[in-house]
Amino acid sequence: MIIDSFGRRFQNLRVSLTAACNYACTYCVPDGKKLQAQSAELDGEEMARAVSLLVDSAGISRLRITGGEPLISPKFDNFLRGVTNLGLTDIAVTTNGQFLSRKVPVMQETGLKRVNVSLDTLDASSFRSIARSGDLATVLDGIDQACAAGIKVKVNMVPMKTANEDQVMPLLKYCLERGIELRFIELMNMGHLKRNQMYEREFIGMEDLLSLIRNEFEVRKADAPLDSTSVRFEIPDRGRFGIIANESEPFCRTCTRLRLSSNGHLYGCLSNSKNYSIRHLLHEPYHIAINELQGVLRNAMASKQRLAFTGETTVMKFIGG
Ligand code: 5AD
Repeated sequence: MIIDSFGRRFQNLRVSLTAACNYACTYCVPDGKKLQAQSAELDGEEMARAVSLLVDSAGISRLRITGGEPLISPKFDNFLRGVTNLGLTDIAVTTNGQFLSRKVPVMQETGLKRVNVSLDTLDASSFRSIARSGDLATVLDGIDQACAAGIKVKVNMVPMKTANEDQVMPLLKYCLERGIELRFIELMNMGHLKRNQMYEREFIGMEDLLSLIRNEFEVRKADAPLDSTSVRFEIPDRGRFGIIANESEPFCRTCTRLRLSSNGHLYGCLSNSKNYSIRHLLHEPYHIAINELQGVLRNAMASKQRLAFTGETTVMKFIGG
């Protein structure tokens, strides 16, 4: 197992099933251009093989399936079935929710327990202007169906000053009423946001967000696991929410994440474009693949940021946060 000088090791693997997405969210892509699949994406079996090798060679115990948008990929069902019996302690999916209701059955069949839904507003018109595609009612129906099936749903919201600040309280109440944990993600300065004024115009930091919520609710800080990316809060008698404070409280020091892109490249850091292809290892005999992965993992670990996210690159959108 590889441990760096900060004591960091890889525990959480995030797999981007496909780089393609059916939305074109303003914070992710410019000009409403939808993300396309990368050339030569791995198939479902190859991806499951990669996960299996990384479980054994890197000590991965938790898996998150992302994209792009993972639920639009025809690989999803096979991949999910392929990773269910690898001894992982946790498997979760991050989705925009548009195809959630139709995937609830396979999630139930495989025993998937957790889904994070990206939802930035409860207002149909601002939904259209942020996501530039999709349908709000369909997403809400997907959330209801997942909850009804006993799947634990979290909602991710990126709060933005002009686009959806007025949705902070409605979304918080919506989540509290349903026992859903809402997680606010501070806008990250990456990709096309680095090249225009949108980041400066839209960013809302943790303190401003808390002041807004404290206008209506008592908010107390709550405990969070050591390698958690979110700062947790409690609203007495109502529930909890979290803030992923990339800017206000960077969490690189305790980062345990490793990322696999849809074309088979490993990334040690979301803030670093260095990547290492492992696709040639996927058809090698087990012991050769495991052996070679050690060197790859050492390089991926060395590419981790020391302290804070700097958003050097545009990788977020196709390796899914
Ligand atoms: N800043 C913050 N969050 C982002 N996401 C995508 N791009 C950004 C950004 N620039 C979020 C999505 C989704 C998660 C996978 O990443 O809203 O919830």
